[in-house]
Amino acid sequence: MSLREFLGQMEKENQIRHVKDAVSTLFEISLIMKGFDNQCPILLFENVEDFETNIVANVCGTRQRICAALGIDEDRLYARLIEAWSSPRNPKIIENAPVKESTGKADLSRFPILTHFGKDAGPYITSAVVYAKSVDGKVENVSVHRLQVLDKTHLAIRLVPRHLFKLWKMAKEAGKDLDVSISIGVHPAVMLAASSPVPFGVSEFAVANALMRDHLRLVECENVEAWAPADAELVLEGRISATKEVNEGPFVDVTGTYDIVRKQPVVEVVSVMHRKDFLYQGLLPSGSEHRLLMGLPHEVLIWEAVSKVVPKVYAVNLSMGGSGWLHAIISIDKQLDGDAKNALLGAFAAHPSLKHAVVVDSDINVYDSADVEWAVATRFQASKDLVVIKNVRGSTLDSSADQETGLTSKMGIDATRPFAKPKEKFERANIPSRKRAETVLRKLTGL
Ligand SMILES: Cc1cc2nc3c(=O)[nH]c(=O)nc-3n(C[C@H](O)[C@H](O)[C@H](O)COP(=O)(O)O)c2cc1C
Repeated sequence: MSLREFLGQMEKENQIRHVKDAVSTLFEISLIMKGFDNQCPILLFENVEDFETNIVANVCGTRQRICAALGIDEDRLYARLIEAWSSPRNPKIIENAPVKESTGKADLSRFPILTHFGKDAGPYITSAVVYAKSVDGKVENVSVHRLQVLDKTHLAIRLVPRHLFKLWKMAKEAGKDLDVSISIGVHPAVMLAASSPVPFGVSEFAVANALMRDHLRLVECENVEAWAPADAELVLEGRISATKEVNEGPFVDVTGTYDIVRKQPVVEVVSVMHRKDFLYQGLLPSGSEHRLLMGLPHEVLIWEAVSKVVPKVYAVNLSMGGSGWLHAIISIDKQLDGDAKNALLGAFAAHPSLKHAVVVDSDINVYDSADVEWAVATRFQASKDLVVIKNVRGSTLDSSADQETGLTSKMGIDATRPFAKPKEKFERANIPSRKRAETVLRKLTGL
């Protein structure tokens, strides 16, 4: 299964907006992407100034579309992810891959790489799925990384200290560069798997294959020791240098503010392979697609952790206002007062970047911020229901935290009804149903 097969399906469902006007990779495409953020359509830019290549964007921009790509209903999403994480299956290896239709030397200036925001250091690849294996060949890893274009054959890669960083460190200690494949234009299941925090040692390609019900195919790279999706649109073959580092950034991350400039490793791109009529995939930093891909897998982790300490978890929302990363709203059933505080502790442990969390009862809609605020207004007492944890590791993406160490403060709000007071005190007042008035209302409002 490929991105273009999925786009074919979305075309039939009228979910693609074709942009035929000429637009530039410098700010113009990102401006249009931002204009459509939080709205449904996939965008297909068919007239990219100075390039033959079309650009597709906002592919994983909504939960519904991610579910459509996985062929499941929304209420099955968490369970499907948990299933795939716990039973990864190795993908099939093939030789004559569509992505090998055209192979050749690296020249990044051929690709329509976007410059997104005014103070960006320059053009960045933002939808890249990076594969690497450990120098002893025992561990494989796939994750999403932003890549800053330095020149025709070099990129700077942002490595947060997680698994790819660990593989790179291991290679560095052995005095070796780390071979990587960098795939652009892959099926949404591959993007979602690569954004998933599975344990070190689990290959996210195997997770993607489980999500795709054994329809992921891999191909061996030609010039580096790496695998890549056989149906990708474009693959860069490269090596992360053991020694060369440059200033990376400034660049906008998931919060919509500029991340700090850091020394990050350089990737030498040695060769490329792509489909003859390949598509380039754009992804707007801090857009809803970025927030969903980062946040969704962590909602699952929170849901699992909180499920262990309370009888029922109804929903978890890493809200867009919290950048899909820093704020969680969790609706639960509790058994005893105090359970909601354990739910808060579970959530913070499950998603270390989480900064603020609100636990509500099941009658509160976690996706409606006014409803959540109403719960805080009517069910929360700061002197009893507030949890503050100081000097704890959080997200380096939060401008108010120490962005070098990630040290921050966290706040949990228990906005569930206290059992000590009668339930009726917290009930939302209801107006009895009256058919005639409802008909009049519908006429007046047109709804
Ligand atoms: C659009 C997008 C961009 C991302 N950019 C980066 C990045 O530049 N560097 C990074 O280390 N992680 C980045 N991430 C997060 C990682 O891909 C994610 O945390 C992944 O689970 C890490 O993989 P690992 O668990 O194998 O370490 C990004 C995620 C998304 C969805």
